[in-house]
Amino acid sequence: MRHFLTLADYTKEEILEILALAKQIKEETKRREFKDYMPKKTLGMIFEKSSTRTRVSFETGIYQLGGIGLFLSSNDIQLGRGEPMSDTSRVISRMVDMVMIRTFEQSKIEEFAKYSKVPVINGLTNEYHPVQLMADYMTIQEAGLDKDLVVAYVGDGNNMAHSWLNLSAKLGFELRIATPKGYEVDATILAKSLEMAKLSGAKITITNDPKEAIKGSTVVTTDTWVSMGQEEQKEIRVKDFAGYMVDSNMMKLAQDKAIFLHCLPAYRGYEVSDEVMESSQSLIFEEAENRLHAQKGVMVWLDRKRDEK
Ligand code: CP
Ligand code: NVA
Repeated sequence: MRHFLTLADYTKEEILEILALAKQIKEETKRREFKDYMPKKTLGMIFEKSSTRTRVSFETGIYQLGGIGLFLSSNDIQLGRGEPMSDTSRVISRMVDMVMIRTFEQSKIEEFAKYSKVPVINGLTNEYHPVQLMADYMTIQEAGLDKDLVVAYVGDGNNMAHSWLNLSAKLGFELRIATPKGYEVDATILAKSLEMAKLSGAKITITNDPKEAIKGSTVVTTDTWVSMGQEEQKEIRVKDFAGYMVDSNMMKLAQDKAIFLHCLPAYRGYEVSDEVMESSQSLIFEEAENRLHAQKGVMVWLDRKRDEK
């Protein structure tokens, strides 16, 4: 049985296989062909943080696959009152067929997975956001930019930056990450990604200069400067991230064919300008929609793996 906790656990072949499956299911969905890939299966969806896209895409996705999603907010379940992850896992995983969790530390989802009888999917932790990256790469493939791909990630060295590191290291494309001083990516995650990159040939560059990162890139992406749980640091972060907004002048440094991606929610006037968000280069809503399709691929793939001997 496999879990989907971080892209570091997946091979290039597996990532591309899941994306191919997602593409096939997307095409079927677009033709309004809803095949019961997961009939009568239940997806438990545990949320310790807010969500729009993750909740709606997983709940809609499992329903379209023939199953049903259970929205379990930590405000409502006993986890929020201190029931341990290990007990929560042993109870819930006896009743449902798959679990998606959005939580704080990656160690919490690992703890849940350790005790789980069913596959566990990471719906965002402080460290990673792997399902988002599946949707992002699907969007890049659809835009025809997966060949000679150069991704510039400008902003906070957070969960999104870490998952970009994993994806680049696995698939072998060039990734440039520009963060302000003091907001660099996690050193351990970077070291592991650089190690994995030796196999794939990925070129990974870390800089404090957003312009250097964007110059000649084919995908420009960013994320909020204030992730969930960091609300109290907003004032200082907004000061420290001065000069990191992706605006039209920044986009001009990228190749003409370059696209802009953002996992959303976006804060216009902070990490990205309104103009870039609304520009023809921006594929943010295609990207958001692809959460639905990419995650259906992940769920069906995990479900099939579970059935394999
Ligand atoms: N991008 C993303 O995960 O969005 P939500 O927080 O709305 O789920
Ligand atoms: N980095 C953001 C992503 C939200 C989808 C956060 O963790 O809040």
